[in-house]
Amino acid sequence: MTTIFRLDASIRAQGSVTRAVADTLQGELIARLGQASVVARDIGLSPLPAHAWAGAVFAPHVPAEQRSVEQKEGLALGTLLADELLNADAYVFALPFYNFGVSQHFKAYVDILLTEPRFAPGQPQLIGGRPAHLIIARGGGYGPGTPRHGWDHGTAWYQRVLGDILGLDLATTEVELTLADTNPAMEGLRGLAAENLAQGHAHASQSAGVLAQRLQG
Ligand SMILES: Cc1cc2nc3c(=O)[nH]c(=O)nc-3n(C[C@H](O)[C@H](O)[C@H](O)COP(=O)(O)O)c2cc1C
Repeated sequence: MTTIFRLDASIRAQGSVTRAVADTLQGELIARLGQASVVARDIGLSPLPAHAWAGAVFAPHVPAEQRSVEQKEGLALGTLLADELLNADAYVFALPFYNFGVSQHFKAYVDILLTEPRFAPGQPQLIGGRPAHLIIARGGGYGPGTPRHGWDHGTAWYQRVLGDILGLDLATTEVELTLADTNPAMEGLRGLAAENLAQGHAHASQSAGVLAQRLQG
């Protein structure tokens, strides 16, 4: 049976666009596959402990019997995160755009993962070439001609990590203007935002079809 690894990083339990679009993709994918198991990691609502990264970085340099609780925890977490990725056939990453950059929780996730010997930089890409889908949602608009063009310092890093560092075969669905409904200053953009959201769901659904074909092929 196909195993889908799904990671959510939105700090919102309700109203999250990345979660909703990822649900569309996941639902369509499972419908097409007939059955699949989903391994879910929610680092938005259940963040990884902040001390785990330093623990995982320094633990290998400390004799096992002298390791601190944080170091043991960092090592164990790295092993768990690496196992989750290695045991999956396809991946869905639902990642929000925060403060013109990346989710701190996903940054922490990547930092811990890359301390794991199997995912250490320079090692063969053990999950390289496997299919993955990134869903990103931004509150504003960042395209050419917009006042904040060039301010998106998140998307390229997400793609660099997933596509180049982990070597995943990555497709991306982007949704913008998600704050239009709640921000009065963006009232005039509500129509465009609704269109953009509908396109995001449609793209995710269509991508699920392509992904299902590949997994079945
Ligand atoms: C703390 C915080 C900071 C944010 N910073 C930005 C930002 O710098 N630029 C932007 O366009 N949207 C920003 N947003 C809006 C989010 O990108 C937007 O709500 C997006 O839809 C988040 O994903 P979600 O809907 O899955 O939660 C921010 C949202 C929060 C909660």
